[in-house]
Order: sequence, then structure tokens, then C-alpha cells
Amino acid sequence: MKKQRALFATKIGVIAASVGSAIGLGNIWRFPFEAGIHGGGAFLLVYIIVVVLIGIPLICSEFVIGRASRTNVLGAFRKLQKNGQRWHWISFVGILSSLMILSFYSVVAGWTLEYTFASLLGNLQGGTVEDYQEYFTTFTTGNLRPVMWTVIFLLMNYLILRRGLKDGIEKLSNIMTPMLFVILIVFAVSSLMMPGAKAGIEFLFNPDFSKITPSVFLGAMGQAFFSLSLGVSTLITYASYFQKDVPLVRTASIIAGLDTIFAVIAGLIIFPALFSFNMEPTAGPKLVFEVLPYIFSQTSGGQFWATAFFFLLFLVSITSTISMSEISIAFFTEEWKMSREKASLLNTGIAMVFGVLCALSFGLISDFKILGQTIFDFFNNTTANYMMPFCGIFFSIFAGWLMDKKLLRDQLTNEGSLKIYTYRAIVFCMRYVAPIGILGVFFYQLA
Ligand code: PFF
Repeated sequence: MKKQRALFATKIGVIAASVGSAIGLGNIWRFPFEAGIHGGGAFLLVYIIVVVLIGIPLICSEFVIGRASRTNVLGAFRKLQKNGQRWHWISFVGILSSLMILSFYSVVAGWTLEYTFASLLGNLQGGTVEDYQEYFTTFTTGNLRPVMWTVIFLLMNYLILRRGLKDGIEKLSNIMTPMLFVILIVFAVSSLMMPGAKAGIEFLFNPDFSKITPSVFLGAMGQAFFSLSLGVSTLITYASYFQKDVPLVRTASIIAGLDTIFAVIAGLIIFPALFSFNMEPTAGPKLVFEVLPYIFSQTSGGQFWATAFFFLLFLVSITSTISMSEISIAFFTEEWKMSREKASLLNTGIAMVFGVLCALSFGLISDFKILGQTIFDFFNNTTANYMMPFCGIFFSIFAGWLMDKKLLRDQLTNEGSLKIYTYRAIVFCMRYVAPIGILGVFFYQLA
């Protein structure tokens, strides 16, 4: 008899776990620095357009493919494609990007651990902005501690993965995300009250249209894919565990909405403070780690809040890394017939090798460049800006055009039991807007 696959126990568990995948370092760390590099308001505007027109339809595409097939990503395409088609090859790009993301993501998650302990020990109290800049540089170029934290983070990820789906992921996501939300609000208020904060609000909400360039489009699209966990097949894999009655379109919209709210709030913490200290918004990956400690040290009870913040950031990172690990684990267990334990070990081993290289790319091997970028930057940019959107094109075309039409309708409407007023619009976006939009951004960039 075939073994029954585990399903998410509750509908709220489904939403919480998918939101847990979406919300993470992408919102709090990556969004502010990308927005900072790409002109603030102009970036936010393009970002929101991409989330609505490409993001939501793509979440739906992945959900449909996952729940209709109830198997890992490779198996999903094999099951749903017509005889003789070879769409399943695309899933290897997804699996590869998930492992690449896990590698560099674990480095930043390791930084959150360093900062949790530094806050707890009071090492991040009472300094100037320059002190925090120096702290970050000394830490990341020091090699040993960044590598140590990356390895520790991956080992924790491994322990959770080994325990399986339900008890690990659901419980964690249900508690952490709301807690982080509360803390973010506290800091946004604190940042908005700083002198000169208004310039930061304007930077984020007042788009300067002359700043909208091809690279803003590419950056915003990459950020949307990264932040919504799209184009790696995380959501295909998660949806393969969804119950029959989960409303896919509504769930997709909730995920996109919540994820965007978290990112905007993170922006509302960083930019007002940044402009208040007269700092440049274009610092890149280090931005948040240099600015936040200073905001915390200016807030009353800062040591407590900082410790809580970095610890929660670590926890929401782990709900994201669990979700990206689940892709290769489902693949290793179902296609290569490995035990869950061995699959988790293989996933962790691969990420550890590349994670250590990413961690060292700020220090020891910072001169080693791939296409002019450090290993860390190369992994970050290539996955988000190219590999994820590339897979996204295929996922939306597959769901919109190639899979059985009745199956598509049944999945989106839960076999006709849901009335979806946006049904046509969603399918239209899956078929035309998403693939053409993504290709358009690629070509715009090339031109
Ligand atoms: N969406 C996650 C974040 O914003 O932190 C990152 C992520 C998770 C990317 C899962 C890709 C993925 F498959």
C-alpha cells in the first residue's frame, strides 16, 4: 500500500506555515537594503505592482501545481505534464536555487545569532553609528565567528527538519510571526519619532519617477520573488501538503498582503532613522545590521528590545530555511528514496559547504569574484534576479496553459464550491501578464 503523505493539520496552519516561509530576512534585511539602493519610493511602487500582477498569480500557479499533484516538484511535473513532455527538467533549477539560497541565507541568519548574543551581553549598547559600523566590519571580516554561526544555524535547521513536517514547522510559525510583528511596530514608532524622520518617510513613499530604471525593475522583481518564496517550488512543495478545502486564491492574497506589510514596516523602521542620522541608504547587505543597533540603543529598554528583536529575526529565518530545505528533502526522499534523516543530512551538508564559502566572502576570500561579485553577492543576485524569475515563467505557463484545464479550475475553485470573482483575472495573469512581465523585465535590462 502507498504510504499516505502527511498533510498540514489546520487551515490556519497552512497559512501560518506559508507566511512563515515568506516572512523572514527577505522582509527585514533584504527589502530595506534593496529599496535603499534602488531609490526608495520608486522601488516600492514597482515592487507593489510586481507583487500584484506577477506575485499573486504565481503563488496561485505554484499552489495549483502542488496540490493537484501532491508530490515533490519533479514528481509534480511528471504527473501533470502530457505524455512525452519534459517540463520536469525545470524543477532542477528550483532545487539548485533552493540550495544556493539556503547557503547565503544561513550566513545572514548566523549574523542574527551573533547580534542576539551581543545584545544580550550588552555589547551593542551606548555606541555611536560609527561604532556599530565598525562592529559589523570587524565581525564579518573576522572569518571565524561568521563561519561558526553559519554552521550552528544550519545544525539547528537540520534538527528541526529531521523531526518532520507537522510538529516542527506549524508550531514554530504560529507563534513567532505575530510576536515579530508587535516588536516591529514598537521600533517603527520609535524610529518615526526621531528628529528628521520625515525625510525617511518621503524617501520611502514619495516616488521619484526619474529613478525608475531597468535595474529598479530587475531589483524589485527579484525582491518580490525572494520575499514571497517564489520560483523555487517552495510553494509547490508546501501546497502538496494542503488540505482539499484550503482556498488557494485567498490564501495567496493573504500571504502577499502580509508579506508586503512586514516589508513596508521594516522600511518604516530603517529609513526614518537612517535619514535622522544623515546616513546613506545605499550601504547594501550591511545596512540593517549597522542601523538597527543604533536605533535600539536610542530606545528606552533598548538592550531588551534588541535581544528580543534579533532572536525573533533568527526564529523567522528558520521558518524560511525550513521551507526552502523541504524542496530538496521531498525530492531526495521521494525520488532518490532516501530516509528523511539522510535527506536532511545531505541538504545540510551541501548548504554547509557553500554557506561557509559565503560567510568567508566578507573576509578571507573577499577578493575571489564571480562575474565581478563576491560569492555571497553572486548567490544572492543570481538566485533572486535570474533563477527564481526564470522558473517563475515556466511555473505560470505550466499552470496557465499546459496542465489540464479542468484540473486548474477545480484547484482554484475547490471543485466548484468557491465563487471566485477574480478567477478570470488570475488565470489571465498566469497565462499572459506574469510570463510576459518577467520576460519584459529581462529584455528591458538587456536593452
Ligand atoms: N521568503 C523568504 C524571506 O523573505 O526571507 C526567503 C525564501 C524562503 C526564499 C523560501 C526562497 C524560499 F524558497
